[in-house]
Amino acid sequence: MNIAIDGPAGSGKSTIAKIAAGRLKFIYVDTGAMYRALALYCIRAGVDISKEEEVRKVLPDIHIRIAYDEDGQQVYLNGENVSGLIRTEQVSASTSKVSAYPCVRAKLLDLQRNLAKENDVIMDGRDIGTNILPDAELKIYLTASVKERAGRRYKELLEKGEEVSLGQIEEEISQRDYQDKNRETAPLRQAEDAVYLDTTGLTIQQVSDKVCRLALGRMKEWK
Ligand code: DC
Repeated sequence: MNIAIDGPAGSGKSTIAKIAAGRLKFIYVDTGAMYRALALYCIRAGVDISKEEEVRKVLPDIHIRIAYDEDGQQVYLNGENVSGLIRTEQVSASTSKVSAYPCVRAKLLDLQRNLAKENDVIMDGRDIGTNILPDAELKIYLTASVKERAGRRYKELLEKGEEVSLGQIEEEISQRDYQDKNRETAPLRQAEDAVYLDTTGLTIQQVSDKVCRLALGRMKEWK
């Protein structure tokens, strides 16, 4: 059984998907981490990410692999575990740009679909319900106001010791929303058969309970 969770940056997808995956005994697949690892390669290699052609040229040199250990999903870039290096604002901004390119999306499509074919997964991203797993048994579109999402990201970054301003985060989130929703290939949008869940003002517990209830309901129908 597959569960697809899509939504904008900071909507709580990964937090909720991780909790639900633990409770339901599913594997959590964070597809954003794959795009982030690819973007990290481009940053390190000094690729001009404003040009799709330049990104396309280096794609054969990029090997992304996903593995699981007691800390959850680990993403490997050419054999190096880069899971701890891909959450900076610089990587976020570059990822939003490179993930708009069809050649980049095509490269990561099989990796995502194969994980879902071989496991019960909760997969989060932007186009999981609409494009990657159109037959997922449950689709959820998770969102929250820009203000709330920026506040959550701000707290997260402060805890990691990054120096940022709330206004700057709000601006960056709005920019990424715009890029993710308005790109031509696989833009972020709610699948027609997705459950819409606005998490503004809700606690993690409330949202994860709701998602698990929905999932358990679908599992009964599915079995
Ligand atoms: O979920 P995230 O914040 O880690 O995603 C980082 C960027 O990657 C985001 O700006 C959009 C892009 N992304 C995507 O285009 N498709 C996905 N399935 C996952 C992420």
